[in-house]
Order: sequence, then C-alpha cells, then structure tokens
Amino acid sequence: MTVQATPWQIGRKNGPPPPLVPGLPFIGIAHKLFRDPLAYFVQLYHQYGPIFRVKLFDRDITVMAGIDANNFLNRDGNDILNSEKLFGSFGREFDTDIFLTAMDGPEHKHLRKQSRRGYSRSAMMPHMADLLHIVDTFADSLQPGQTIDVLPTIQYLVTQQLGIVIAGRTPDEYFPDLQRFLNYNINVKVLRMWPEFMMQMPAYKRAKARVIELGKEVLAAHRAKQSQADPGANDLIDDLLQAKDMAGQPYDEAMLLAATAGPYFAGIDTVASSLSFLIYTVLKHPEVLAQVRREAAQVFANGVPALTDFKAMEMLHGAAIETLRMYPVAPFTPRVAKAPFEFHGYQVTAESEIFFAQTVTHYLPEFYPNPTKFDPMRFAKGSGRGTPGAFAPYTLGDHLCLGAGIAEAQMMLILARLLYRLDLSLTSPDYEVTVHAAPLPNPGRKFRVQVLGKRG
Ligand code: HEM
Repeated sequence: MTVQATPWQIGRKNGPPPPLVPGLPFIGIAHKLFRDPLAYFVQLYHQYGPIFRVKLFDRDITVMAGIDANNFLNRDGNDILNSEKLFGSFGREFDTDIFLTAMDGPEHKHLRKQSRRGYSRSAMMPHMADLLHIVDTFADSLQPGQTIDVLPTIQYLVTQQLGIVIAGRTPDEYFPDLQRFLNYNINVKVLRMWPEFMMQMPAYKRAKARVIELGKEVLAAHRAKQSQADPGANDLIDDLLQAKDMAGQPYDEAMLLAATAGPYFAGIDTVASSLSFLIYTVLKHPEVLAQVRREAAQVFANGVPALTDFKAMEMLHGAAIETLRMYPVAPFTPRVAKAPFEFHGYQVTAESEIFFAQTVTHYLPEFYPNPTKFDPMRFAKGSGRGTPGAFAPYTLGDHLCLGAGIAEAQMMLILARLLYRLDLSLTSPDYEVTVHAAPLPNPGRKFRVQVLGKRG
C-alpha cells in the first residue's frame, strides 16, 4: 500500500513565509474583514492560493483555505493548534480556565465527552411542546400589517428555547444582560476592537453580575431536584454537576457557572443569524416557500410533532443546509500554532496566528457547482453534504460544534412553525440581503419581514 503524501509537514522549517496580501496602513485588511469575510477570503484564495498572510492592525495572520487546509484542520492540525486565545477570556470572566471551547488535549476530550449528551439533538425531545409554545406566543402577539425586525426577534426566540433544552429555564428578563455580556467580550477580548477599559464600565459590570445571578439560579434549581432526579432525564447541567474532572474531583463552582452560562450565549450569534438568513432564502424563492408551507402543514397537522417527524420536511431541510453553505456565520476558525509546520511549501512558525477559512470550499465549484446559486436540492435526501471536509459551517476537528444537531432542528422548527402560523413576506420581492459582520456574519438589523396575515 502506498502512503499518500500530505501537502503539510509538521516540524519542518524550510520554506519561505507565505505571501503577504497588501493592506491599508495601520488597519491592514480590517475594513474588508469586518464587512464580508468569506467573500474576501474566497477572492484571496483565487488570487494567492491556499496559504497567505494578512495584516490586521498590528497582527500578522496566516490564512489557510481550501480542501487541504480543511483536511489539515480536521486531522493532524488538532495536535499542534491552540484554541485558548479565542474563548479563553470568556472562561476567565468567570474565574475558570476550564471552558470547553478554549481547551485542548486530553482535558478537552474528557469534558467534551461529558457534555455530549446535554448538547445532543435528542435533548430537545422532551420539550417539543414548550419549544412550540415559545414561537406561538410570539406569533399570537403579531397583527397583520406589522413588520418584524428579524435578527433581534430570532435571537430572543432561539435563546429562550436553548435555555429550556440545555439549562431547564428560559432567560426571560436576563436576555439583554446576556447580549451585553457577549457583545463586550467579543469586541474587547476576541476582536480587540474596543479598548480594555470597556470591561470596567458600569453597564458591563451590571450585565456580568446579572449573568452570574442567572447561572447561580440555574445551578441551585438543578441541585434542588438532584435527589429525585431520573438520570435518563438529565440535562447538561445535571450531567456536569455529577461529572468529575480527570483527577476524579467534582468541578468547582466557577467552572460550573461558566458552563451554565455558555448555552445561553451559544445561539445568539450562530443559530439566530443562520435562521435569519434562512428566513430570507425561503421567502425569496416562492417555489421553495410554497413547498415548505405544505411540509409545515403536514408536520403540525396532528398537534405537537416528534423530532423524528421533521425528517419528512425535505425542502426545509435542504434549504437550511444550503443556507448554512451560502451564509456560514462562523466563516473562519482562529487558532495559534504550537509547533512549526510547512503547508504547500510555505513556512508557518510556532506562535503564528492562523485563520482557517474553512468555509471557502463552500464557494468552490469543484465541490458545489454554480456556488452562488441557492439550490436546496443539492442536499436532497440521500445526497449527503458533498466531499468530506468541504462542508464546514461548524468548523472541523476536535472542536467541531457540539450543538449542530440542535441548531439545525431549531432552524427548522422555528421557521416551520412561523410559516404555519403566519403569512410572511419580504418587505419587497426585490429585497437582496447584504452580509454584515459585527462580529459574525448576519443579515443586519435592517432586515425586516412583513406579516401579511395569520394562519392556523
Ligand atoms: C448554526 C449554528 C451554529 C454554528 C454555525 C456553530 C458553529 C460553531 C463553531 C464554528 C464552533 C467551533 C469554534 C472554535 O473551535 O473555534 C462551535 C463550537 C461549539 N458549539 Fe456551535 N455553532 C452553532 C450552534 C450551536 C448551538 C445551538 C450550541 C448549543 C446548543 C452550540 C454549542 C457548541 C459547543 C459546546 C462548542 C464547543 C465544542 C468544543 O470546543 O469541543 N453551537 N460551534
């Protein structure tokens, strides 16, 4: 058997540095990156190939893209990439270093295993009636003629649902605090667009105190019910309260608080933006909308459906996956190299900051012919998601999103129910969505839809 050579070699230090993309003085490529990062990286991939460097303010960042970069991220990259930089500060806001997205190696694998069930799609099953009730309450509050601000509305609905599924309670009046906490942390700690002193502002401190208060309430409620708990009905918080770290010790309060708050943030910039784009793509294509309406009518005909009934909604499923392909809301994955390596003959030194633009493949015609065309039938039943490693909205490798199943089920459930209850349309059939990236790609706060009438 011949062993296929890979286009990367870990530990090798010979090649030249990757080509540097010229940028503006001082800001580098910031103006492009914060507009539509994926479109920009696709353009640079065609111009410079699978590895190049960009300047982002004072940072020198190596960008890797294309199927080889995705395979590297998915396989050997796991051993030599560090994830701490991206989300480590979130954990530290709760005084802990044990925060899933920021860990690597055996400790990460250990905690990931303990978290898997709580984040799995099946965790939604016992709550279907409550999840529909959240959408119905919103639909009931609307009148024909009204317009809906899509993104903030969906952020709220998604987070209410995630609260129930993962932590046993809706965030309700804590929602603005969660949003503020997330916004400050992303802008100061992750993007470094805002100065550090913002974390001392009274508005942030108040939001943080409220987020901790919510976390404490959730933990107290779970501890109170532990004695009469049925282990089969455990949610993520029950599982973590019973779990032990690698040394066999229970997790401390700081870790538990961070883990409890995490799920409340998980959908705000991810599911909500993806679903907002899905609302756009479905309303934009009348033939898709008509079929999705028929599917929704069928699935809700006999009351509260089981999660498995959603499998019958083939057009909605195809539209959701096609939307994740065309509008991935986490278009690149930031990492730091722990060891040097060569990729396509270019040298990446230890400590280099790397952006894996893992969704560039979504726009390469060799993987998705005619990639700018919205075509839900690409992902029709049985046709999978394309070449392994090419579809990557949830990144690849050890940190592959644990909530992907819930995310897709939420997108389908919320849109199907909204279309079952309401007659919705774009504000104009000519409306074209634009991608805004602050901090992650979303359809912007001006995206509205119109309520033409009420249904079922
Ligand atoms: C369309 C929606 C979503 C997208 C596009 C998405 C994307 C991602 C990405 C790109 C990562 C990797 C981050 C990194 O390592 O740099 C990630 C990790 C993660 N996501 Fe999601 N996510 C979505 C929804 C959700 C939801 C709803 C949940 C919870 C219910 C969730 C839970 C997680 C968790 C726990 C991790 C950490 C996994 C680990 O580090 O091992 N995600 N997600």
